Amino acid sequence: MIPATNQKPVATVLFIFGGSGDLNLRKLTPALYNLYLDKYLSDQFAVVGLGRTPYSDESFRERLEEGIASFSRRKNDGDKDWKSFSPAISYLPMDAGDDKAYTKLADFVAAREKEWGVAANVVFYLAVAPQLVPDIAMNLGKLSLCGDKSRVRIVVEKPFGHNLKTAQELNTLLGGLFAEEQIYRIDHYLGKETVQNILALRFANSLFEPIWNRRYVEYVQITAAETVGLEGRGGYYEGSGALRDMIQNHLLQMLCMVATEAPISFEANEVRNKKVDVLNAIRRIQPDEVKDVAVRGQYGPGESTAPADRPGKKSAGKKEEKEIVGYREEEGVKPDSATETFAAVKLYVDNWRWEDVPFYLRTGKALPRKATVITIQFKTAPSYAFPNEATKNWQSNRLTIDIQPDLDIRLRFQVKRPGQTLAIDPVEMVFSYKDTYDGQEPEAYETLLLDVMTGDATLFMRADQVEAAWKVVTPILDEWESKTPDFPNYTPGSWGPDAARQLVEKDGFDWTAE
Ligand code: BG6
Repeated sequence: MIPATNQKPVATVLFIFGGSGDLNLRKLTPALYNLYLDKYLSDQFAVVGLGRTPYSDESFRERLEEGIASFSRRKNDGDKDWKSFSPAISYLPMDAGDDKAYTKLADFVAAREKEWGVAANVVFYLAVAPQLVPDIAMNLGKLSLCGDKSRVRIVVEKPFGHNLKTAQELNTLLGGLFAEEQIYRIDHYLGKETVQNILALRFANSLFEPIWNRRYVEYVQITAAETVGLEGRGGYYEGSGALRDMIQNHLLQMLCMVATEAPISFEANEVRNKKVDVLNAIRRIQPDEVKDVAVRGQYGPGESTAPADRPGKKSAGKKEEKEIVGYREEEGVKPDSATETFAAVKLYVDNWRWEDVPFYLRTGKALPRKATVITIQFKTAPSYAFPNEATKNWQSNRLTIDIQPDLDIRLRFQVKRPGQTLAIDPVEMVFSYKDTYDGQEPEAYETLLLDVMTGDATLFMRADQVEAAWKVVTPILDEWESKTPDFPNYTPGSWGPDAARQLVEKDGFDWTAE
């Protein structure tokens, strides 16, 4: 989180392994560029792309400039800013498997420090395929520079491990090479403004906290829906699936934000301790319960007719019609693939605050709209004092936190419809970022990169958090792996398989974010 003092990072050298890859092009360089425009970067800043693709500094910058044009929230208008920022970027062709090449990195840092006349913070960002992480980490660990806990950090992208065992192995390996405070495990959802705002909403208001518990909350739902299919990521996704790709990390982290006890400070370890308590309190699912609490799906071929916005919005109803090939026809996917592109689970958090309140989590690709939404549904108020005709539209209070694409918080409550007869209607009170604040909110990667550079690990996953999250999903993964699914079982543009609807309907509820 950006410190209240808006303190600038000190002299920094940032190495990006996978520098020529997609993540750097789409997210990291645009984020750095925006941090530069917002004056968060030190004048003594250098970023070095590392990769096997042969680029010169100049051709690498040109490629990244194209990335700014396509993916940055602020474009390179007028060219002036890019001209002053881009000299900070260079490219070092390097095979990450060549252990002798790593001394070049230490040499680069030494040269910059000499030029700047100060010791620099050094960040190694591993934006590479997960199988490359151990070797790179081991080679970095050999550099004497990495022993400096206060200045050197390593950033590891998700997926962090493929299951509990491999995550534990990776933690052990990294823990043998770096101190925990040097390791930044990214979950980019934690950098989203609206996700961070959950803590502000809950703990900067006296209104919500007294009712934020099992006495008043009926259920919690978290939906992360995407309209896109695979977008050429078959090679990665086929070995992953929706449970590993989204629920183990992003959705469980949002659940933690909703369910956590109040921290006594926003110090990184305090916040993370409280969140890991939530993960540890999630009721373990037994193998024979998986069929009742978890649903998986895979989309077949079809047409996605995604409304551009949510119902009720002015633009709602506009359709983005798009042919979607079935998941099994995607490149890199087996013709009989059992990988799920949709997952829904019901969890319970067994502690005093949440006992018996269901938490429904749902995510999927090729769904009707792009939306990440958290719903806190409160118990229904007793209606007996009102005549029957007055309560035809009776609805429970509901707090909806729209994480994206709208950044809204909506509170539903009931009012008397104006007129001589007594009738009650639900209405909504809306806080919209767009209508309240000027300008654009920072992208998640801006916040997270700045945090790494300033050494704030609050929004990053600690080793025990990642393992606790794997423990939650492991029984489902094991059970699913042991049985052949009947795939494909949903069409693009639908809300997933019927069983997902039944998961909430059998408890008497609906999915709220549709
Ligand atoms: C990534 C997943 O972590 O998050 C992708 O690997 C997914 O499959 C993406 O599309 C969604 O992120 P966002 O920020 O677009 O919701």
